[in-house]
Amino acid sequence: MKVKKILLGLLTWCVTIFTAYAQPTPNKQNNKEMKTLVAYFSATGTTKTVAQKLANAANADIYEIRPQTAYSAADLNWQDKNSRSSRENADEKARPALADKNAKIADYDVVFLGFPIWWYRAPKIINTFLESYDFSGKTIILFATSGGSPLGKSADYLKGSCSATTIIKNGKIFSNHASEKELAEWVKTIIK
Ligand SMILES: Cc1cc2nc3c(=O)[nH]c(=O)nc-3n(C[C@H](O)[C@H](O)[C@H](O)COP(=O)(O)O)c2cc1C
Repeated sequence: MKVKKILLGLLTWCVTIFTAYAQPTPNKQNNKEMKTLVAYFSATGTTKTVAQKLANAANADIYEIRPQTAYSAADLNWQDKNSRSSRENADEKARPALADKNAKIADYDVVFLGFPIWWYRAPKIINTFLESYDFSGKTIILFATSGGSPLGKSADYLKGSCSATTIIKNGKIFSNHASEKELAEWVKTIIK
């Protein structure tokens, strides 16, 4: 009788331990299934440097958002009210054309979306990008480089270019000297 009791106890103990180890924690499972893309626009290479390090840090795929017509130095002159970037910034409806629409957005759950800050917000080509794909149900986290300005109202200005079921939020401004370690730490706080 005593032996039977001991054996039953041992069996219960084994089943409990096995069940605990056989089931991954929900967080780990989510991470495994979470597919991540780093999509970025960069006119002069600063955001590109950060995007490449971020893609490594997040173990993500990377996609460059390229304008159909590249921005020349004259186009980027913010002191000239008539420069291309100044005109695009002043026109809420401006949607600079993309060089391609090859991003496989449907494959991803999370998109880190990077750009240089232009006049305290995202360049209009980011609106073009968001309006060119279906981001329904996806999470978009913004990151940027700048001369010192924060992300400001970038997310608010971009909301109108996404569907109602897209989660879009300001992430962080990074220096092009940001280390992969710093970026990986940041990713951990975003994708839990
Ligand atoms: C047209 C234009 C407007 C800019 N506006 C701002 C701004 O409002 N605030 C800021 O801190 N930097 C501003 N910058 C500086 C860029 O954000 C910064 O140099 C950025 O790192 C460039 O990134 P890229 O090399 O990836 O294009 C502006 C640059 C340009 C060309």
